[in-house]
Amino acid sequence: MRHAVSLPSCTSALHLSLLALGIGPGDEVVVPDCTWIASAAPISYVGATPVFADIDPGNWCLSPQSFAACITPRTKAVIAVDLYGNMPDYAVLAEIAGRHGIAIIEDAAEAAGSRYCGRAAGTLGVTGTFSFMAPRR
Ligand SMILES: Cc1ncc(COP(=O)(O)O)c(C=O)c1O
Repeated sequence: MRHAVSLPSCTSALHLSLLALGIGPGDEVVVPDCTWIASAAPISYVGATPVFADIDPGNWCLSPQSFAACITPRTKAVIAVDLYGNMPDYAVLAEIAGRHGIAIIEDAAEAAGSRYCGRAAGTLGVTGTFSFMAPRR
């Protein structure tokens, strides 16, 4: 990635990602329903509404079909989580998000060292956020 910012936590990075995208009251952000609380809490810090999508039983990450079903005219972003070092199907997520003008924020807190089709975790969204959380693989 061209730029990196060092912060106290992944939670701060998710919070700043939402602020940088101008997300606030009246906006909706899709997030998987199986993740750590910090994937969802920053959505409420900026006054937006979290919309919980199902996970894919194969990788425990955001289901692209469920993401698509959660989209409304208010959806501004999706926080895709690389849970336990697994990664969701970013090609399909990017296609859906691109069609609706939705920004992808990648929560890679648990995925340092993971790859999706050769691309490193943390490089799949407009922002990618890490933690000192140990990768769980
Ligand atoms: C998926 C996920 N997102 C975000 C976080 C938050 O990371 P931090 O504790 O660095 O704020 C964690 C940490 O447990 C996590 O597992």
